Amino acid sequence: MRRLVRVIAVLLFVGVVAGGAALYWATSNPELEPIELASLTFADEEIERGELLALVGDCSACHTAPGGEENAGGLALPTPFGTIYSTNITPDPDTGIGRWSYEAFARAMRQGLDREGNHLYPAFPYDNFVKTREEDLRAIYAYLMTRPAVAAEDQQNELPFPFSFRPVLAGWKLLFLDDSPFVPDPALDDEQNHGAYLAASLGHCGACHSPRNAFGAVIGGRDYEGGEAEGWAAPPLGPHSISPVGWTLDDYADYLFDGWSEFHGIAGGPMTAVADHLYYADEDDVFAMAAWLDAITPAQDDAEREAAIAAAEELDWPAVEGTMFDEEITDPALIEGRDVFAARCARCHKERIGPSQPYSLGLGYAALAPTPRNLINAVREGIVPPFGVAERKMEAVAMSDEQLAALVAYVRWHFTDEPAWQSIEDAISDHGAEAGR
Ligand code: HEC
Ligand code: HEC
Ligand code: HEC
Repeated sequence: MRRLVRVIAVLLFVGVVAGGAALYWATSNPELEPIELASLTFADEEIERGELLALVGDCSACHTAPGGEENAGGLALPTPFGTIYSTNITPDPDTGIGRWSYEAFARAMRQGLDREGNHLYPAFPYDNFVKTREEDLRAIYAYLMTRPAVAAEDQQNELPFPFSFRPVLAGWKLLFLDDSPFVPDPALDDEQNHGAYLAASLGHCGACHSPRNAFGAVIGGRDYEGGEAEGWAAPPLGPHSISPVGWTLDDYADYLFDGWSEFHGIAGGPMTAVADHLYYADEDDVFAMAAWLDAITPAQDDAEREAAIAAAEELDWPAVEGTMFDEEITDPALIEGRDVFAARCARCHKERIGPSQPYSLGLGYAALAPTPRNLINAVREGIVPPFGVAERKMEAVAMSDEQLAALVAYVRWHFTDEPAWQSIEDAISDHGAEAGR
């Protein structure tokens, strides 16, 4: 199935290449004049605001290689089309953006073009950044241009043809880049609308939390229905949330500020960097996003919430003496999974409801997701917690692929009412292949 989707994607893409190339020649984008960094001056408040907004935009999460200098680029971003490397956005004149005028910077953020006029890949989420307001873009520019310059050459992307041919991106943009400005929702108050704006623009929450089509573009009209990022499933948000215990304003604030919520668990995988940036961002900005999420999430009444918590407690180990072993299990695979859980996981993921315990696996997204990837990732890689909950570390738990498959099937069966996952072995071998990359 995956293969078929890929083949179709390639064929369609080849069609787009032709159109894109034609369009490119028709609308060739000019190089913008280089500037002298020394000629720029900015107000301190603008630089400070820019620093806080860059945190919402996670610029340094993508533009910093592991162990590398901040914003000097070189982080490998795997995409279904190949590997794309982030670039140097420090103000180094030769290898960074030191010769970029504000106009060149704003054009990159809004139209995905570099200073010379080359198309940029949407792995750089300009399809979100295009919604950023002028004053916010100016502040980020002021911040970036006043950072230390780092000399670091950009790395070559690893993309097969036709994806390696940048002009095809003209076709992509024509089809998928919605450059209409953010429109506030009259049903929301100013704070909630500010949150909605940040989420849609700099926060690029939908880049991970919305589904994408075969061209890697977010599917219009399906915002926040759940997506994928770096081998993790990103949960559906707001009205689409599948959390058994509904999200409240406090839950969202806890999760976004600290990266953990008692009834929803931890911001793991690619969400960790988001939470870590929001930890240092402007409180009002983060709170506005929590207020926005709360406003678009249908409220769960107290009785429903209590019932959902009680149901999760019942599945906990050993909240009620022997609960787990009272289950009628006949499937030998599930029995094996239960035994792995008992030996390797239950020590921590037990009667949990209380802030000092790891959360119940019945409450978080890992067991409920349409794919077992998050659960597999947690066991194989462990959980490096966000700054806000630094003590909530989980070490990787070593076990064979067979044990892991049994464990994963058991967790799904025991902690949720969702249908069994069909592709556990594939997901385990995909994980292995990516880890060995
Ligand atoms: C999800 C990862 C990601 C995030 C987040 C991100 N970028 Fe990037 N950015 C990239 C990638 C990848 C490229 C290179 C694209 C290419 O080569 O076509 C890029 C390119 C750029 C460029 C063009 C630079 C050049 O040399 O051509 C600028 C400017 C830029 N990003 C600024 C920012 C700013 C400012 C932020 C934060 C508000 C940000 N980026 C956040 C991935 C990201
Ligand atoms: C780079 C990808 C990425 C970006 C960008 C991102 N998220 Fe996430 N988010 C994830 C992943 C993956 C998870 C699941 C984490 C886990 O289960 O450990 C997640 C989890 C969440 C959850 C918990 C939902 C649930 O039901 O468990 C919330 C709420 C959330 N993100 C909000 C946001 C907001 C708001 C933004 C924008 C400011 C954002 N995310 C940006 C990838 C991302
Ligand atoms: C030594 C304690 C410990 C052990 C053993 C342990 N965990 Fe965890 N686990 C944690 C902590 C701490 C977290 C972070 C979340 C929290 O504190 O609520 C966590 C988080 C998770 C998550 C959430 C991942 C996410 O990003 O949403 C999953 C899934 C998980 N564990 C599964 C397991 C499984 C399966 C086992 C057994 C193989 C296991 N854990 C063993 C402590 C542990």
